[in-house]
Formats: sequence, structure tokens, C-alpha cells
Amino acid sequence: MTIKLGVLISGTGTNLRAILEAIDAGKLDASVEVVISSNETAKGLRIAGDRSIDTMALTPDTYSDPAVADQIIASVLKQHEVDYVVMAGYMRMVTESLLLAFPNRIINLHPALLPSFPGAHGIQDALDYGVKVTGVTVHFANAQYDEGPIIAQRVILIEDGMDLDELEDRVHAVEHKLYPEVLQMIAEGRVQVLDNNTVKID
Ligand code: GRF
Repeated sequence: MTIKLGVLISGTGTNLRAILEAIDAGKLDASVEVVISSNETAKGLRIAGDRSIDTMALTPDTYSDPAVADQIIASVLKQHEVDYVVMAGYMRMVTESLLLAFPNRIINLHPALLPSFPGAHGIQDALDYGVKVTGVTVHFANAQYDEGPIIAQRVILIEDGMDLDELEDRVHAVEHKLYPEVLQMIAEGRVQVLDNNTVKID
């Protein structure tokens, strides 16, 4: 089944680009219907604009009340008849109105192996702690930040002397491969959230 995606971004949008390229390559049976940014200057908006994908940018004023912002976002996503909401470098927490509009249909990407190193600086935090492995997590979003049911994880070894730039490059390379793969598993109907909040992949 072709799934309709709404993508939420805040920054450069390299994961948005990876998703679009996977669609172009026939590896992901999906369409990106709309891209919504939490700021007007996100570079990722250009990636969407260049492909004539509908975009919307919310201003800090709109975000002064996150619940109101999420009502607007939910209604735009519904207007575009989106099946799944894909957070790709989206630096805002999603609140109840959006979560209720898309139960177990909002997917997040985190640049560490959750539940380790949640929050906005997962790559730096893993490096500073001195762990020898870190990785990437794709999970469903819920009301607890970075705590929703985990769909997939990939491990990255942190080698001696690796600096932040090198680790970021490794993390992003893994993300760009893993995120489209997970979305394809969802498109194939293989991903199921169980009652105990774990995820079963068929
Ligand atoms: C990714 O590392 C993602 O894990 C984190 O923010 C980054 C987004 O990068 N949440 P981009 O905007 O997709 O380039």
C-alpha cells in the first residue's frame, strides 16, 4: 500500500531528502504530501519547495502555545489526508492534540540508542559519557518525550579518538538508510504496536 506522509522538520532536512530519494528509487512505497517546519528558515523547506511539495512554516508566535500549534498542525495534516506523521529532525515536543489525531502514527528518529541519551543532544551526550557504542532509534512518539514504542535500532561503534563531527557523520549515514527502511516496513503493514507497548515486526 502507498502510504501518505506528512513530514515535520526544524533544520537541514537531510532525512527528508533521504526519504524522498528512497521514494524516487522505488524503495519506499510512499508519498510526501506536506512538510511542516517549526521555523521559517529551515533549509529543509527548500528541499520540499523544489519538488513542489506543499509546505507550512510556523512562527515562534504560533508556538508560544504548543497546544494551539499542534491543533493547527493536526488540521493541516488531516487536510492532506496523511496516514503517518514523520518527525525528521523536528525539535518540538508533540502535544496531546496531535498525538490523539494520529495514535501510534507519529514516528520519530533519535540519534542515540534509546532509552540512553534522550533529549536534544544525543550524539554529543553519548560521546561525552564515553560509551563505546551508540546508534540510531526509530520509535513511535507518545506523550513521554523519546519514550514511545521502539520500532528499530542500529548500533554504531565509537572508536578511540572519534570526534563529534565524525560521529555525527556516522549517525546521519545510518539514519538516512534506516528511516526509509522502517517506513517501507510500515507501508507493507508489517509493524504492529502490541498491548504492552512493544513493537512486533512481521
Ligand atoms: C537527526 O540527527 C535526527 O536524529 C535528529 O535531528 C537530526 C535531523 O537532521 N532528531 P536533518 O534535519 O534530517 O538533516
